[in-house]
Amino acid sequence: MTDAYVAAIDQGTTSSRCIVFDQGGSVVAVDQREHEQIFPRPGWVEHDPVEIWDKVRGVVAGALAKAGLSADRLSALGITNQRETTVLWDRTTGRPVHHAIVWQDTRTAALCAELGGAVGQDRFRAATGLPLASYFSGPKAAWLLDEVPGLRERAERGEIAFGTMDTWLIWNLTGGVDGGVHVTDVTNASRTLLMNLERLEWDPEILDALRIPAAMLPEIRSSAEVYGTAVGQLAGVPVASALGDQQAAVFGQACYDPGTAKNTYGTGSFLLLNTGNRPVPSKSGLITTVGYRIGDADPVYCLEGSIAITGALVQWFRDQLGIIGSAAEIETLAASVDDNGGAYIVPAFSGLYAPYWRADARGVVTGLTRYVTKAHLARAVLEATSWQTREVVDAMYQDSGVPITTLKVDGGMTANGLLMQHQADVLGVPVIRPRVAETTCLGAAYAAGLATGVWSGLDELKTHWRADVEWTPAMAPEVREREYARWRKAVERSFDWED
Ligand code: G3P
Repeated sequence: MTDAYVAAIDQGTTSSRCIVFDQGGSVVAVDQREHEQIFPRPGWVEHDPVEIWDKVRGVVAGALAKAGLSADRLSALGITNQRETTVLWDRTTGRPVHHAIVWQDTRTAALCAELGGAVGQDRFRAATGLPLASYFSGPKAAWLLDEVPGLRERAERGEIAFGTMDTWLIWNLTGGVDGGVHVTDVTNASRTLLMNLERLEWDPEILDALRIPAAMLPEIRSSAEVYGTAVGQLAGVPVASALGDQQAAVFGQACYDPGTAKNTYGTGSFLLLNTGNRPVPSKSGLITTVGYRIGDADPVYCLEGSIAITGALVQWFRDQLGIIGSAAEIETLAASVDDNGGAYIVPAFSGLYAPYWRADARGVVTGLTRYVTKAHLARAVLEATSWQTREVVDAMYQDSGVPITTLKVDGGMTANGLLMQHQADVLGVPVIRPRVAETTCLGAAYAAGLATGVWSGLDELKTHWRADVEWTPAMAPEVREREYARWRKAVERSFDWED
């Protein structure tokens, strides 16, 4: 089946990718480019939006060339993106007013504490599904309005546009200063702390509290509809979907039924459980978010366990400590020993997200003795991912009462068989990776194809999903619980370092 092609752009935290899919949902071509990570101060993380737009154009050209296709063969283009990362730009010049502030950035922690006041971090949770945390976009925009000279006045006059990466790309793809459309989708908007989760509209009270001028906000649209037509290298291609990357993975993993869940292992890890057409509030440190909305259909909501640092810990082990030369080497090093030698690493580099939401947490290594080698530390690095996942799976159960009986997984770290086995071991349930592991791009392509008639509906998309590898739990329950107790002790050691 190759009569229709759909392309998807995944603008991620460390790189941008473009993938072309055929009508069977198989990958035809992939291109990927990294962009610079800018760390101006401890806890601060920025991206250059102009560099990102440049890299995106590069990967689109690269993927089309590898596929041997011209743009006019594409039925639709879908967008998926790192969520929460915030860019403000001048509507007349098209130039960003500052680097984008990345989701991991903690500079707004004090602002969030101040906004919470006597109520604390749950002040806007009923309306937005989110705790007040530096992770989300609204406080980042508020910080920029306060810190960039003259910006607030320009924003109030309607001269400035706010966007997450979906908005920035769609605006540029559809013409930029020459008539680019200024939109976002419900999934990305649900990460701003500015959208009412039930009404799917910007919340005037919250805008007021954060002093965000409504004039700079994009229009909130569904995740699958034609927002506009691309100009330039993709001239004529309908830009027909936008989903935050984790929600796109839910869609690409065919988690269309309430009770289905997936975990994506990237820079961080994000476990989302489909809870159907009603938002389920969390009492256990998860967040409530929009999963997707296809055209005029009812929105689908998810409970999400967001873990800030998983794959990024492997990168840190490679780049900052230099213990391994490539990310893939960690598996060989970790496999050279039988266990972690008693060592645990809690990677609270951006504080801790779910289920703790502790801005004051910082990374710790516990259990060190002279026995511990770099191989044990390599194991501890990998295990940090599976233990953090176990914590959010437990929280999902507490909130929903529905046990996760199998976990669909995707993302770069699923290539690491040792980690996936440990994940199955510590959850005590099978972990399954699908045949098409590019689920983020696939989900965006599916949504764009639904909006343009390439696919008939969710039932057709479900038939594309096939299991590839399954890891079954092999750890004795008493070992699992003993190790888990040690992990939790290590987590407690990470608290109270920074306010
Ligand atoms: O919420 C942040 C998330 O969307 C980032 O995903 O894959 O770019 O690390 P990723």
